[in-house]
Amino acid sequence: MSFKWKQYLHMEPVRGWMNDPNGLVFHNGLYHVYFQYTPGNATGEGLRSWGHFVSPDLLKWRFVGEFIKPDHISDSTGAFSGSAVSYKDKIYYFYTGNVEHEGFDLVLEGREANQIFVTSDDGTCSSDKTVLLTNSDYPDYCSCHVRDPKVSFADGIWRMVLGARTKDDEGMALVYEGPDPCNFRFKEAITCPGMGYMWECPDLVDLGGRSYLLACVQGMEAEEYKYQNQNSSGYFRLVGNKASSYEELDFGFDFYAPQTFAAPDGRRIIIGWMGQGTTEYTNPTIEMGRQHCLSIPREIETDAEGFILQNPIREIDSLRCSLKAIEGESWHRLPLDIVCRADTKEGYISISGVKISFDGDVLKMEFADQTEGFGRTYRKIKTGIVKDIRIIADRSSLEVFINSGRYVLSTRFYPAFPEVRIETSGLEVDAYRLMNKDTLVAIGEALIDFIPDRSGVSFEEVGSFSPRTGGAPANVCGAFSVLGGSSRILTGLGADPFGRLITDDLIKAGVDTSAIEYTDKANTALAFVTLGRNGEREFSFYRKPSADMLYGAENIRREFFDDCWALHFCSVSLGDFPMRDAHRVAIALARKEGALISFDPNLRFMLWDDLDKLKAAVACFIPEADILKISDEELEFITGTSDLDEALGVLFTGNVKLVIYTMGSKGCYAIDKDGNKIYVPSVKTQAVDTTGAGDGFIGSLLYYLKSKGIKRDDLEYISEDILEEALVFASRFSSISIRTEGAIQSYPTMEQINKEFTT
Ligand code: FRU
Repeated sequence: MSFKWKQYLHMEPVRGWMNDPNGLVFHNGLYHVYFQYTPGNATGEGLRSWGHFVSPDLLKWRFVGEFIKPDHISDSTGAFSGSAVSYKDKIYYFYTGNVEHEGFDLVLEGREANQIFVTSDDGTCSSDKTVLLTNSDYPDYCSCHVRDPKVSFADGIWRMVLGARTKDDEGMALVYEGPDPCNFRFKEAITCPGMGYMWECPDLVDLGGRSYLLACVQGMEAEEYKYQNQNSSGYFRLVGNKASSYEELDFGFDFYAPQTFAAPDGRRIIIGWMGQGTTEYTNPTIEMGRQHCLSIPREIETDAEGFILQNPIREIDSLRCSLKAIEGESWHRLPLDIVCRADTKEGYISISGVKISFDGDVLKMEFADQTEGFGRTYRKIKTGIVKDIRIIADRSSLEVFINSGRYVLSTRFYPAFPEVRIETSGLEVDAYRLMNKDTLVAIGEALIDFIPDRSGVSFEEVGSFSPRTGGAPANVCGAFSVLGGSSRILTGLGADPFGRLITDDLIKAGVDTSAIEYTDKANTALAFVTLGRNGEREFSFYRKPSADMLYGAENIRREFFDDCWALHFCSVSLGDFPMRDAHRVAIALARKEGALISFDPNLRFMLWDDLDKLKAAVACFIPEADILKISDEELEFITGTSDLDEALGVLFTGNVKLVIYTMGSKGCYAIDKDGNKIYVPSVKTQAVDTTGAGDGFIGSLLYYLKSKGIKRDDLEYISEDILEEALVFASRFSSISIRTEGAIQSYPTMEQINKEFTT
């Protein structure tokens, strides 16, 4: 699977076809976005179902899977577009069940347009389907193109608006009302003669004391500055059932079928499909098995004259990092938030091969470089004098907001990934990188731990060993991701079956494996383990050398740290081989990106022929760390004393701000620079296998700090409560993990932890 041009901010499924956003709703603390989905192919052939994304914050989106499927006689040729309402404890969904019969024109005959109702408690499992309206419920003058129910509930009335095409090819919207979500009666048709043959995806919206009908008007004749897409999306002003003054919402190449919903704070948010039904242009991602994405969520409001303004949701501002003023020509990495002020009547900004230029009251978006447009040419609009331009540039899209969002142009573009040349003239330009700094990057070994079939026996007595993915840095990533965080492992694996096994396991745990380097110069590292009676271990390593040791500085790329919140490493990989240099480069890059550095020496004596070298390596890397984890068994070797207070003098050197001191079943401490100690006892459990317990401890502790929004510079001021909670959380996590064998396989999810520990 290729991630070239994969969007960073935008909802985009990794495989399959996507069109309209559906069922936008905020329910029980989460945003749900469904969409028209054909998982099986990227070209959209086949039946539509509803795919599903969720987000806690409108910024990070998680693909959940398919929701409504076309598996009923009333939606047998597609679960088409629709909407959702959060009402009391449930979500109510309304969508069009499309049924096409063969041998008909499918406009006047042969198509059933069934409006269907389902409910869900949590947005993932749906109830049985209830058909609310069928063809006989639409006015006589309608064709069988009636679809896309947008439902709202206010003042005790359920209102549904449907897009329709009449038998005479006039587009309109039909309004139905009812006392409950299962009984709708026709109320009226909203019309505006002369505006297209079909209105898709209608949406009734009140903004700033005025009423609007959003709709996608099909079949408008192209004009020099308007209707340059065969299917446009826009809004009418609404008085009673009379619609007028249609304005396009987006003048770019790729925007259609938007839908709005209310955020819990009252903002009205719009999300559109970054695509178009019929185009001469294409998208190269088809070859990678996927096509299309959704627009970024935009806030809508109106200006004094009642025009709708669209602007990127304000949450985006929290992703802004490293501000750069741009003059003339320079290179920048995507995604970017580009803010421009115009101080002349004429100017331009070009981002890679796309030029946005204005002259007087005309603004043009033009693909100067055809290799990036895949058939896209230019769009021209009348904007009046251009005062400001804001561009959200993701890895394969540009969304251009002009004059406080009064005019918008959205397009896909496919630059040579991911650094773009920006050139400007006549504009004052500030550009921000947009990044969610939430990823734990770990560097070092990923290997196979061979777990014995019996514990409490020596190597000679073990009958057989079973392979389990391990390696401390890989385990730490595993813990972080199993809990729901985002992590990336930097390591080398052999181009061999064990390398594949590790990769598969890490992917299953949710770890990003794209930075792994596969080599045929060495095999994947192996470690055979025996388990003592209480779960303590002895190792035998196969690593002379192994693939991870050959991962060098040249394998480290700057973009591994774009989204880095923390970098974690251990000592096994600090021997005299290329991996040690890779650590140096990684630490420097992570530090430059503002990331927190975490070091768990995790000593493995048998891997060193000279223990002084180990001691020196650890001493050399401790000052690089902001957080240092050390166990009671390691204290004396590393510091030369077994007295903790004395040892602290040695440990707090360089950047070290926090020491996490673990004592197995005797509990753990968090200690700050001033020697303040917070102690938390361990959770009593019968240990079966402690492999990966320490890694799980630090991985879950880091996850907890991350979830509290702690960044590197906060470490010095971190509250005692948070430290204590973090230790408690990590102790609980490890206590569950040592009850079953293996490392990553034994790590509990957040749900399991919550289930077991209710407080
Ligand atoms: C708009 C649209 C809707 C329909 C859906 C089918 O793009 O044609 O009218 O419900 O797509 O996928």
